[in-house]
Amino acid sequence: MRVDVAFSPLGLGPQDVQGRTVFVVDILRATTAMCAALYHGARALIPVASTEEALRLAQTIGSADVLLAGEKNSVRIPGFALGNSPLEMTGQAVKGKTLIVTTTNGTKALLAAQGAAAVYAAAAANLTMAGQRARRALEEQRDILILCAGRESAFGLDDAYCAGRLAVSALGGRKPRRGLNDAALASLDLVRRYGENWQRPLSYSRAGRELVRLGFRDDVLDAARVDAYPVLPQFHERRVTLAHLPESHPAPQPQPQPQPS
Ligand code: MLT
Repeated sequence: MRVDVAFSPLGLGPQDVQGRTVFVVDILRATTAMCAALYHGARALIPVASTEEALRLAQTIGSADVLLAGEKNSVRIPGFALGNSPLEMTGQAVKGKTLIVTTTNGTKALLAAQGAAAVYAAAAANLTMAGQRARRALEEQRDILILCAGRESAFGLDDAYCAGRLAVSALGGRKPRRGLNDAALASLDLVRRYGENWQRPLSYSRAGRELVRLGFRDDVLDAARVDAYPVLPQFHERRVTLAHLPESHPAPQPQPQPQPS
């Protein structure tokens, strides 16, 4: 079976996702924030392509249980209840709510994966659960695509390293020489380079540096916490909700927040 990585959704067509199990990665911060929101009891998230579409949809649904969330250039969209920070997705803010979400790169990548056999959101925050699901997909003879949101349609170190960690998990110690595309091989090289240290690739990446500059250093630290929000968000019929998991896979315990290195 194949484990492919795409460093951005640019140029990705329906034929690239069809029949595949796709894991969308936007660790800084969209997929981390999605894990946090569902972990803290959000009912669902609806990713949309633009602020205008988010406003229109909120008006159509017209319910007090709907919140607008998202960012432009990493900053909360004016008038929206929430931004894109995993730390904002507290139980108090999101429990029982449906979030209509639009972000610069993350929601685009999710929307680009529509038409796949299954689409999940992945980050360090749910690495174990995403890895288990990826391994199962391979056992079920399904090809995997790890789709990085990247940054402005280009490579992002943060997502690429996360893709490598997920590929390692999916492969479960096997080292197939074939069945990996070049981007997957490069992602695995990043894992060899940075080892288990999430904070280095996250804080060296352009997205990480930009977030620190804007005052979101704690978000970068939070996104580096493995299994911090152990849920598996699944994107299906326009909504992101909790995937149904077999009982044999208990949720891992969240790790404490690491100190800056
Ligand atoms: C995105 O979707 O572009 C990112 O998640 C941006 C952000 O960090 O808010």
